[in-house]
Amino acid sequence: MTSFLVNPCLSRYNEHNQSLNCGVSAMKIVLLADLHGNMAATKAMEQELDRIRPDEVYFLGDAIGKGPESDKTCDWVRTHCNHWLAGNWDRGLSKDKENDTFYSRQIGPERFAWLDSLPLEDELTIGGIRFRLVHGRFLDPLYMSFDSDEKLREGFRFKDGRPDADGMICADSHRPFIRPLEGGYALNTGSVGDNLSLPRAHALLLEGEKESGPLHITILSVPYDNRKAAETADLYPDLPLKEAFQKEVLTGIYSR
Ligand SMILES: [Fe+2]
Repeated sequence: MTSFLVNPCLSRYNEHNQSLNCGVSAMKIVLLADLHGNMAATKAMEQELDRIRPDEVYFLGDAIGKGPESDKTCDWVRTHCNHWLAGNWDRGLSKDKENDTFYSRQIGPERFAWLDSLPLEDELTIGGIRFRLVHGRFLDPLYMSFDSDEKLREGFRFKDGRPDADGMICADSHRPFIRPLEGGYALNTGSVGDNLSLPRAHALLLEGEKESGPLHITILSVPYDNRKAAETADLYPDLPLKEAFQKEVLTGIYSR
């Protein structure tokens, strides 16, 4: 199997994609987030992306922190995605980059400079629906599947003055969801590397034409070698809260 690599050759997948409506080629868009230094989960998701052959891959923040291989998951999003947002861990660890910590040594100034350059919100129109994209914190609150419609609709409102969106796609809670609200959808990617509830790699697949027609929304739930993820952490004895990460990837139970 060839390795899935968005940059620089996204267009090679276009000819393979199926039509959803009247012979016009539909876009396949994958949105993923919260890799958190877990390469076993990231590689499993990469295999699924090889099968799907998306046209675009959006990264919605949190490449780094928690798991043992933040340098590798940061490099992976840079080469396998073509739209990027910063998450709360990306911005939070960067604030500590001048200090001599496990993360600052592993991630290094060049990766921190790249992460610092990423925006905090973006937008995506597919199936005639204009979604606001945001990680969650820092810019917004943490959005959960059981939050009120009123709270989730806050995610439709851009902080930079753009007109309100018709929906939002977020991450941050490490639990995927699809919530139809009055007036639009609230979607969550779940987490690739530290998903809670189920310790599988999660992402969203959206399929449709840009301005009109049907929209397919799919939660990708990909099993991975959880034991390998936990054992990899043992190779990094200085990893902060190592046991918490290991318990989370083995059980899906929040342990911090
Ligand atoms: Fe996260």
